[in-house]
Amino acid sequence: MKTITSIEEMKKWSRLALSNNKSIGFVATMGCLHEGHLSLIKTSTEECDNTVVSIFVNQTQFSPEEDFDSYPRNIKSDKLILQTAGVDIMFNPNQKDFYPEEFQSFVTVEKKTNYLCGVSRPRFFRGVTTVILKLFNIIKPNTAYFGEKDWQQLQVVRTMVRDLNMDVSIVGKPIVRDKDGLAMSSRNLNLSKSERRTALKLTQALEIVQTLVTKGESSAVNIRAKIQETIEKKQGAKIDYISVCDPENFKEQTEIHSRVLVALAVRIGTTRLIDNRIIEKN
Ligand code: PAJ
Repeated sequence: MKTITSIEEMKKWSRLALSNNKSIGFVATMGCLHEGHLSLIKTSTEECDNTVVSIFVNQTQFSPEEDFDSYPRNIKSDKLILQTAGVDIMFNPNQKDFYPEEFQSFVTVEKKTNYLCGVSRPRFFRGVTTVILKLFNIIKPNTAYFGEKDWQQLQVVRTMVRDLNMDVSIVGKPIVRDKDGLAMSSRNLNLSKSERRTALKLTQALEIVQTLVTKGESSAVNIRAKIQETIEKKQGAKIDYISVCDPENFKEQTEIHSRVLVALAVRIGTTRLIDNRIIEKN
């Protein structure tokens, strides 16, 4: 595996691969890799001739009061993980090259970012779409893989790619969970043992919702109340949002008719966790 930090070198490598008719699969990450990232990487290595993984903690998607500084980083172990996974290129640009002083261009997806994470993290999606657009321009992937753990992010990226006629296929992959059910996240490393136990309430709440809907519950109000009750039973969990919404446009639902997204964001101590589940009513 080759590590590339220079944007120009990355562009050159991609141009050469494409001119040799080799497809490029791409997984964008902020590092501190876990099985969730690896499931995307594995699919890319199976489906594409070459796989590029970026490791870049993207400052523009964090607001000043958020956890950019304390976001977990472990480039040495990431490199070993990527080598073992059969990745061709680890792309690890530095912040100054990526966002030089005169940087002033952003891309924004409008409606879909006004809901869920877009409410409490107003800079988040603008930062995500901008970094992804830049990474796509540099790496020129044929296919890019994203996790359904960040369901709204996946839909926002899909929307950008469609609206701007970008030449890349977006593939979504299911949430990978730890044995205890907690959705894997680099931020889980910042949880203490007792905070981790509290975090499991997110998973439990989503499982309870599935059971309720299977038994015939269809009121979104009742479902939100049940989630709130489950999570607030544990001290130290502060709900950011509980949403029962349309999985594509994120409009809140009052009744569950067919397919909804149940999405949660909860602060546990200083760590903000998200989780979701698609619920289908028969
Ligand atoms: P990061 O949190 O590192 O996640 C990188 C990719 O891995 C995303 O597509 C995310 O949805 C996926 N992923 C994370 N945890 C997962 C899990 N438990 N199961 C399945 N997929 C999982 O998301 C970001 O970074 C950034 O916002 C980024 C897209 C890289 C832009 O900076």
